Amino acid sequence: MIAIASDHGGFAMKAQLMEHLTERGIGFDDLGCYSEESVDYPVYAEKAARGVAAGKYDRAVLICGTGIGMSMAANKLPGIRAALCSDCYSAEMTRLHNDSNILCLGGRTIGIELAKRILDIWLDTPFSGMEKHARRIAGIAALEK
Ligand code: RB5
Repeated sequence: MIAIASDHGGFAMKAQLMEHLTERGIGFDDLGCYSEESVDYPVYAEKAARGVAAGKYDRAVLICGTGIGMSMAANKLPGIRAALCSDCYSAEMTRLHNDSNILCLGGRTIGIELAKRILDIWLDTPFSGMEKHARRIAGIAALEK
């Protein structure tokens, strides 16, 4: 089960990505927002990130205008490795190398077809499990203390 959330800047893209997830048969919770009324992205980043950190969700997708605010906010929470991606290569690498557990997208910076492709790659790519990458991820976690 994954979570998906956005602010107003990502609302339209969230709606289209939820359709895509449904077509793919991937279960998700929509944590808001629920209209294009202006809201504050940290509220939605926190909802999704706390759910991932607590193990309620395997992973999450966060969308704001650029994806930047969502990634900054989500990465404040322990255990969260949020990756802002605007290309397919980064989406693949951040799963293989960083074991990212949140994907951030910019609803105003990339088109929906690219966003769907990035999402698919990110969802379908496992962590490599390589020792050097696990060690570096542990190094990130050590910075939280
Ligand atoms: C909202 O206008 C915008 O600032 C937000 O969606 C996001 O791009 C922040 O990083």
